[in-house]
Parts: sequence; structure tokens; C-alpha cells
Amino acid sequence: MAFDIARTRAAYPALTEGFVHFDGAGGTQTAAGVIDAVTDVLRAAVGNRSAAFAPGRRSLEVVAAARQAVADLLGAEPEGVVLGPSATALTYTLARTLGAGWRPGDEVVVSRLDHDANVRPWVQAAEAAGATVRWAEFDRHTGELPTGQYADLIGERTRLVAVTAGSNAIGTVPDVPAIAKAAHAVGALVCVDGVHSVPHGPTDLASLGADVLVTSAYKWSGPHLAAMVADPARWAELRPTKLVPSSDAVPDRFEYGTPSFALLAGVTAAVDHLAGLDPDAVGDRRARLRAGLTAAQAHEEALLDQLLAGLAARPAVTVYGSPARRCPTVSFRVAGMSPAATQQALGDAGFCLSSGDYYAYEYFQTMGLRDSGGAVRASIYHYNTADEVDRLLAELDAVTDRTGTMVR
Ligand SMILES: Cc1ncc(COP(=O)(O)O)c(C=O)c1O
Repeated sequence: MAFDIARTRAAYPALTEGFVHFDGAGGTQTAAGVIDAVTDVLRAAVGNRSAAFAPGRRSLEVVAAARQAVADLLGAEPEGVVLGPSATALTYTLARTLGAGWRPGDEVVVSRLDHDANVRPWVQAAEAAGATVRWAEFDRHTGELPTGQYADLIGERTRLVAVTAGSNAIGTVPDVPAIAKAAHAVGALVCVDGVHSVPHGPTDLASLGADVLVTSAYKWSGPHLAAMVADPARWAELRPTKLVPSSDAVPDRFEYGTPSFALLAGVTAAVDHLAGLDPDAVGDRRARLRAGLTAAQAHEEALLDQLLAGLAARPAVTVYGSPARRCPTVSFRVAGMSPAATQQALGDAGFCLSSGDYYAYEYFQTMGLRDSGGAVRASIYHYNTADEVDRLLAELDAVTDRTGTMVR
């Protein structure tokens, strides 16, 4: 179906403020259904989880619904969905848990393409255990993460391979299934950071080959909460540190403290929003998610092509990486301007973009760009329009003309 952009935009109250949001990678705007769901729970009688009274049952239902929604989004089982405040917090929980079982001589493999949230928790857990960290390198020109290197990086002592399903810096979508296959051949676990990939297309835990997949709802129209999913049998093997009286059931034992019931209702509503992106879609929620996200992906990819062509036509602009498979995310610099100055100039004109390293620390260190300010990031989400891309390109021209840096 043709993606109905007017209908989609109407679902985001914040878009009426008039800003142009190319900052979805840092957090998308919130869908109306999410706001309503959060408000409904805040207004309702809600108790701590208990089957004994109705408000307590409501909390139980909210949590169960959020687990089911995330399971539908990722192709997981609800009992395998661990909910938490952020992807970073969840990954630290897992790293501490797994790291407690590592020994000197064990190895973990991380990548320099990843957001630091899927690097540092593993590096620090390895250090604490005396385990060895091995690094997968990206190609500096293309921004690809060559799969072949994993044959050398992975060995008998590899316990874990952590890799991104989509770079939040330059969009690269690595061949995660192939990497996972190499890891599984030696019995290593695979932890996949899906924070940047999940908003941009259908996701399936099994097809990725991920043992653990992490996602953050605020990157796909929801509230600031995250989830970490795995086969429930996998969670059953692991024993995180926890309070003595808190539930030892799976997946609850990985969750710390009383959850935010209102925001969890927002997670469910965000998944329902994604499932409604294609109004003609039929079937269960997972089928409708596939249809809606496929339609949104086609829309985003057309905008990405438009943006890349526009940037390539501007000699003052340097775009980093040209990965064959990518999320709609582009890092660039304008000649003679610091990334922060470009961001500020665009920001003054109502365009919201990130600048810096966006925590893709190893990428920008390796590129030698970090100390001089990283880059500017334009990240496309399904509520963006072709007109917004044109306006961004025109504003870049205006900015560079004003500062006299445009080389034509
Ligand atoms: C690819 C990627 N991984 C992990 C994170 C961290 O997510 P959170 O803010 O939920 O900890 C981000 C946040 O920007 C990200 O883009």
C-alpha cells in the first residue's frame, strides 16, 4: 500500500509544534495513543501487583500486556520479555549476570560500530572477570562490519558476541545472522542491540539468530522504557543478583523494583500504534506489525535515498560510510563548520538533529573524528516527509552560504 503520511503524522500531537524532527535516533515523538494509555493508567485506581483486589489486578494486567506487545513486536514469547528503564540499564544487568560466570581466558567479542551501551557493559564485565575482549572492526570507508573477521575473532573460549543490528551513527545493518551462526558454532551467546534497528522495519528474534535482543520504546513512538528479550529457557539458566524477597520467576527476576505501570501501558500502546501503520493490514498483531513496519520502511528508504542524493550533490558536505544495508540514518559534516555549529544553525531554523558522537564512541574514535566534535546526524523516521528532506537540504545551503563555507 502507499504509505499514508498525512494519517501517520496526525497521530503525533507534538508535530503540530512545527519543528522538523530528524532526531528519531535520539528519541521519536510520542504517538497519541501512547499519551492516552499512560494518562488512563495514571487516572485509574492502580495498586501494587496483587490478584487480591481489582486495582492490583490492573497492574498485573498492564505488565502482562506490555510483555505480550513486545513479544509480538520482536517475535518472542511474553515470558521472555524483561522490561526495564533503558537499554543501557538492561544490558548492564545482563553483563553483570553473565560476567559472574566468566573466567580468565574466556573471551568476549564486541564491535567498534556499536553504541557504547552494547560495548562498555561487556568490556567492564570482562575486566572484572579477567576475561579477554576482542574487537570487531568496521571498514572506515564503507562503514560495513565485515562478517569474515568473526571467523578469527571467535574461538573455543568465546562466551559472548555483542553486536548491533543497526548502527545509530551511520545506519549500517551488519549481517547479524551470519555472525550469530559463527558464535553459536562454539556455544557462545549472541547479544544484539536492536535499539536503532527495531524502529525501522519488522524484527524477528529467531531470524536474527539473537539469544538476547534489546530495544528501547522511546525510539519507536513510545515512552522511555526498554525491553530485553530471549527464550524464557535462557533466562531460566541465569541468576542475576536480586533482592531476597523479590520474585525469582522468569522474567521478573531480572527486573528491579516496582515498574512504572503507566509507562508500561504506553509501551503496549506504542506497539499497537506501529501495528496500525497500515490501515489495510489484517491478521493478528504480529502480522499487522509486519505490514505496518514494512510500509513505513519503504517510506523511510525513499526519504533516505532523497537525502543521500541531496547531500552527495553538495560538495561542502562529507557523508560518513556508505553501507549497502542501512537504517535511514546519516552522519555528515559541513566543510569549515564544527558539527555543533551546524547543529546550532539548523536548530535555530527549527530543525532538530543530533551532533557529537551520540555514544557511538568507538566509531568516532576510530574515525579520528571524536575529538573534533564527531558529526551531525540526520535520522529519518516514518513521520518525516519528502518536503522536510528538501527543506533540510535548502537550510543546509542557507547555513553554508551564510558562513561562506559552501564550495560550489
Ligand atoms: C543503538 C543504541 N543502543 C543503545 C542505546 C541506549 O538506549 P537507552 O537510552 O535506552 O539506554 C541507544 C540510544 O541512543 C542507541 O541508539
